[in-house]
Amino acid sequence: MNLDDAMNTRRSIRGYQDKPVPKELIEEIIALANRAPSSMNTQPWHLHVLTGDPLNKVRMGNQSRMMEGVPPSREIQDHGAYEGVHRDRQIEIAVQLFEAMGIERDNKEKRLDWVMRGFRQFDAPVSIVVCYDKSMEPGGTIAHFDLGAVTYGLVLAAWSKGLGCVINGQGIMQSPVVREIAQIPDDQIIMTCVAMGWPDDSFDANAVVSRRRPVENLTRFVGFDD
Ligand SMILES: Cc1cc2nc3c(=O)[nH]c(=O)nc-3n(C[C@H](O)[C@H](O)[C@H](O)COP(=O)(O)O)c2cc1C
Repeated sequence: MNLDDAMNTRRSIRGYQDKPVPKELIEEIIALANRAPSSMNTQPWHLHVLTGDPLNKVRMGNQSRMMEGVPPSREIQDHGAYEGVHRDRQIEIAVQLFEAMGIERDNKEKRLDWVMRGFRQFDAPVSIVVCYDKSMEPGGTIAHFDLGAVTYGLVLAAWSKGLGCVINGQGIMQSPVVREIAQIPDDQIIMTCVAMGWPDDSFDANAVVSRRRPVENLTRFVGFDD
């Protein structure tokens, strides 16, 4: 798969085959993602790759705390509710996903089930917990930028090898659970996790293609037509 094809066809995958992902393949993907640029070459990222029993404990711990009403506890600052165009785009993708999955607007049970899947990292066979060095705080914005780069590298490299991913903020909502089970070192901050596995092509949400603004709506060219 060439780069254009990978970038154009990649989409978030939320349904996975019950099939393990070889450790060597994950290492290859991480080696590619690890080529990401970072501010002054600081490379502040750390990746914790979970599968099997530890991953199941993380997903069940995360889900049950959310079900019990324990307030979300993340290690990065929460943005709160989105508004305006950001809220519109959030709703747009939710509508696309719910339509694909046949989840009606007023079906609270199915909606809750969907949210719970997110807290369980969509039952993916692998989860990569993405962390950065605590020493980057305060003012960790640049480290956040660096982690975005390495995380996009991960999902793109995985996609080019036939694997699917979803970057999954829901999966680390109860970060103390993740920290304890995955034994995240004290000098690292949990940013997010990436669910990964072989896409289940019969899972309807996997076919959803999120919409984008045309280039001219988000870009200004300055000095080109002078
Ligand atoms: C920082 C971040 C956090 C995300 N968290 C979640 C999540 O918790 N649950 C989920 O279903 N998707 C999550 N996503 C995936 C986005 O919903 C998805 O990227 C967006 O809707 C665009 O769709 P696409 O990836 O298929 O192009 C997250 C993406 C990012 C970048």
